[in-house]
Amino acid sequence: MIYLDNAATSFPKPGGMLRVMEECIVDYCGNPGRSGHRMSMRTGEEIYKARKEIGKLFQIADCSRIVFTSNATEALNLGIKGVLVSGDHVITTAMEHNSVLRPLTSLEESGIETTIVRCAGDGTMNIERLKEEIRENTKLIVCTHASNVTGTIMPIKKIGETAKQKNILFMVDAAQSAGCLHIDVNEMKIDLLALPGHKGLLGPMGTGMLYVKEDVRIKPLKQGGTGTSSKELIQPSEFPEGFEAGTVNAPGIIGLGFSAKHVQKLGVENIRAYEDELIAILDGALRNMNGVTVYGPWDCRKKTGIVSFNLRKRGCEEVCDILNSEYGIAARGGYHCAALTHKTIGTYDTGAVRFSVGPANTRREMNLAVEAIYQIQKRVH
Ligand SMILES: Cc1ncc(COP(=O)(O)O)c(C=O)c1O
Repeated sequence: MIYLDNAATSFPKPGGMLRVMEECIVDYCGNPGRSGHRMSMRTGEEIYKARKEIGKLFQIADCSRIVFTSNATEALNLGIKGVLVSGDHVITTAMEHNSVLRPLTSLEESGIETTIVRCAGDGTMNIERLKEEIRENTKLIVCTHASNVTGTIMPIKKIGETAKQKNILFMVDAAQSAGCLHIDVNEMKIDLLALPGHKGLLGPMGTGMLYVKEDVRIKPLKQGGTGTSSKELIQPSEFPEGFEAGTVNAPGIIGLGFSAKHVQKLGVENIRAYEDELIAILDGALRNMNGVTVYGPWDCRKKTGIVSFNLRKRGCEEVCDILNSEYGIAARGGYHCAALTHKTIGTYDTGAVRFSVGPANTRREMNLAVEAIYQIQKRVH
């Protein structure tokens, strides 16, 4: 199969990842932080190494501020619900995923107000618009680093500077950028960084994390066993265990540590340059094809490895079915859990076909995908 659905989850995973996960499960998987025996200690040590490895990718100096979660959605919920209280105002954008928009909507009944900044038809956002929405009680700005529909890259550094000047917390949804774009939490003035392990970091499904800057106060999303302060009935507030209640996904986290190291070895800048090259092949050919409409920025440097498009004569789901069954190409059609994005780019009634590339894709696969779309478009019904 030609796998062009890396924005949903990456495939394939790095060689060797399964080995370390298997080693954990088969050789030593004791419950970390719970007991003093060798197996429990070893699992704890391996998780600590993974935490450090992942922290390096984002210039996180204190890796204990990384809270492991089961995906980006849990990390976003923890960050959003952990800092907002009744009376707060939060600003976000129309390019967000439901993992941001739904938690924010659910908080409306708790007296938390949200402003959604509109974006241009290619998904880009004018930061002046965001600045106009800042109020006295604005506590948080939440923004995706890159759209999961168009790949449009948001002006994260500028938003971070604005938030800092105004003393507002800044949370970044790096679901589409971690492992694909440069991220430095210090340079970008990020207070809360939420991301999945299973996309650009090439880790296993069931992994994700939230980084919480040293001076940011946050409430836990769940309460339960931490292996510490066991006599206390209130949840400990120490990082990371106070926020990782319950037994963690040790094999998954250790696998993620391995894949994060692999991404470091490949180099995020190199991954970015290669994906840029791949997406330019797709984007250029599809934009020049009769009967095909491509969405998002024309300049591929302004987006990640995503190209979303529609064919004049066929619905997006039908195109994906044909790609799957006749060409062996995996793509995603529909609304990509981002209705407001589709409203912004003019595809609210149709959805779109999305191709998303990863570091294992080849130039030849791009040409085959272009050829498949050409054949499908030119067919008579
Ligand atoms: C921009 C964005 N945010 C959040 C998420 C949620 O990620 P997860 O599936 O890991 O919860 C996704 C998933 O596609 C996404 O693209």
